[in-house]
Amino acid sequence: MAAVVDALRAFFAPTTFVIDAENPGDVVARENLLDRAMGPERRRKSSEKLRSGRLPAEGLAFVARDVDGHVIGTVRLWNVEAGVSREGHAVPALLLGPLAVDPAHEGKGIGGMLMRAAIEEAKNRGHGAILLVGDAAYYERFGFFASRTQHLVMPGPFERDRFLALELRDNWLEGTAGLIVASGRKLAMPPVRRAA
Ligand SMILES: CC(C)(COP(=O)(O)OP(=O)(O)OC[C@H]1O[C@@H](n2cnc3c(N)ncnc32)[C@H](O)[C@@H]1OP(=O)(O)O)[C@@H](O)C(=O)NCCC(=O)NCCS
Repeated sequence: MAAVVDALRAFFAPTTFVIDAENPGDVVARENLLDRAMGPERRRKSSEKLRSGRLPAEGLAFVARDVDGHVIGTVRLWNVEAGVSREGHAVPALLLGPLAVDPAHEGKGIGGMLMRAAIEEAKNRGHGAILLVGDAAYYERFGFFASRTQHLVMPGPFERDRFLALELRDNWLEGTAGLIVASGRKLAMPPVRRAA
C-alpha cells in the first residue's frame, strides 16, 4: 500500500525524480544537502562514529536526482557488526543513514523511494538486517521496529525507542546482543608528508 502511495505521489509531483547510484561527483552536493536538511548537529550523532573514516557498503549509496540531475535526496548504508550471536559469533549487518530529502522537495515520496531502493538492493546483495536510529513513526512503514534491537547498544548516547531494525533474512538478529561496531572498508588516507 505504501508503495502505491509513493508511486501516486511521484506521478502527481510537479517535478519528477530518479533514484541513482551515488558517484564521486555527487559528494559536495550531498554534503550541502545534509547540512540544509539536518544542520551541523548531524556530525555529533552516535551513528556518525560508525561512519566516520569508512566507505559505505558496496553498492549501497544512493541519491535522488531531479530532471536536471541535481542531488535532491540521499541515503547510504554502512557495514557494521551488530553485537554477537548466542554462539559467540559477530553478526554482520548494515546501518542506514543519513536519509535526507531537500526541504524544497519533501512530501513527494522521494524519501520512500530512496528507502525502498536501499532495502531492495541490500536484500539482493544478501545482507541479513538493517539498523538505524530515527523516528519510528516514519520508519515503521518500511518494516523497522525497536523490538529487534533490545539487546544491542549504539557506541554513544541514543534513544532506545528510536533504535530500529529490519530483518532481511528470517530471525537474523534473534539472540544478538552487544555493541554495534563499524566493520566497513576504511577510507584511504592521503600519505603523510615528512618535512625535508
Ligand atoms: C524524513 C524525510 C527523509 C522524509 O522524506 P520525504 O521525501 O518528505 O518523505 P516521503 O514523501 O516519502 O513521505 C512523507 C510522509 O512521511 C511523513 N514523515 C516525514 N518525516 C516524518 C517523521 N520524522 N516522523 C513521522 N512521519 C514523517 C510525512 O508526514 C508524510 O506522511 P504522509 O505519508 O502521511 O503524508 C525528510 O523529511 C527529511 O529529509 N527530513 C530531514 C532529515 C531527517 O529527519 N532524516 C531522517 C532522520 S530520522
